[in-house]
Amino acid sequence: MGLIKKNSIVLAPMAEISDKPFRTMCRKYGADFTFTEMVSARGIVNNSFNTTRKVVFAKSEQPIGIQLLGSSPFYIGEAVKRLVKLSPVDFDLNAGCPVKKVTKNGFGAAILDNPAQLKEIVSAMKKSAGDISVSVKMRLGFRKVTILENAKICEGEGADFITLHPKMGNDGSELLPDREWIGKVKSVVNIPVLANGFVFSAEDAVELLNKTDADGVMVARGALGNPYLFSRYNHFLSTKSFPEKPKIDQVFTDALEHLELIKIEYGENLVGLNSAKKNIFWYFKRFNGIFSLIENIMELQKFNQIKIELEKHVENLKAGKFSTESNEEVFDKFKQRILFWNLK
Ligand SMILES: Cc1cc2nc3c(=O)[nH]c(=O)nc-3n(C[C@H](O)[C@H](O)[C@H](O)COP(=O)(O)O)c2cc1C
Repeated sequence: MGLIKKNSIVLAPMAEISDKPFRTMCRKYGADFTFTEMVSARGIVNNSFNTTRKVVFAKSEQPIGIQLLGSSPFYIGEAVKRLVKLSPVDFDLNAGCPVKKVTKNGFGAAILDNPAQLKEIVSAMKKSAGDISVSVKMRLGFRKVTILENAKICEGEGADFITLHPKMGNDGSELLPDREWIGKVKSVVNIPVLANGFVFSAEDAVELLNKTDADGVMVARGALGNPYLFSRYNHFLSTKSFPEKPKIDQVFTDALEHLELIKIEYGENLVGLNSAKKNIFWYFKRFNGIFSLIENIMELQKFNQIKIELEKHVENLKAGKFSTESNEEVFDKFKQRILFWNLK
């Protein structure tokens, strides 16, 4: 049986986010497997330290896939060849990133306008991957809709599954995906199709699977500060009912665990502190007092200070010290732009 089982739930690759601490928390709560963030195929081939660092994972993190970014069949095939020794469960091609600095180089979603090139890339990946699964994460197209042709090409070249974020290359992140396309793609290929886009809760994931005939879901923004999405989803699959959302004590415990993992991964430097802050904000985004938490933590320069401030915050929260903000409004801001504290 392939990597994708019925109703799989998978953590998406997210640049600057899908690191070891985040992946560990998502696996702990039941993501079937995770992905590294995208890494440049050329960077791997050129032994760039900063690129290679992002794909190195611990054995305990298995099962995990590696996502590659690039447009040259040679570099992508060569990168896969070099990474096979890490034994990831999957090599994924990024054919969906719409960011200008990526597409202007012909990478990410830009590949979708060039089916012949996509064909060569998937073929090169397959040749190098041996027994390891190969997949493509894509949109409907970049400038024109090419998805049906591209999906068939991926299957023809031996891709083991595809992930579809059913939007065009230049659609903004606030625009809803057009889920009708999942069925259309399913009707032209026999490999599994994961659906991606706008799954912010276990309920959303179940609804997506009920409304489409996708084989599983891939979750990106919905998992930020919310690894419970995976456990609540898995609970639903086995019992057909959704458990309650986690209470503040559990969220606090997990935020501290995540903080500790970040400290071990990066140390007490700018990268570590920034990661700690954003992840904590995400854990607490659904609770009252989020803006005062942001204000009190933003300037802190030590993990220990962050921890103390967080403890105080949770005490205040439990004592009902924060007025009820409109959580929906906060959450909408988060959806529009995940660094939502910049919107103030
Ligand atoms: C901060 C951020 C970083 C992302 N980085 C990647 C990436 O490295 N590779 C990729 O294929 N998609 C990347 N994406 C896109 C997501 O994987 C996903 O396709 C998109 O966010 C839609 O899913 P969602 O609605 O569940 O967030 C990124 C998205 C976000 C918000």
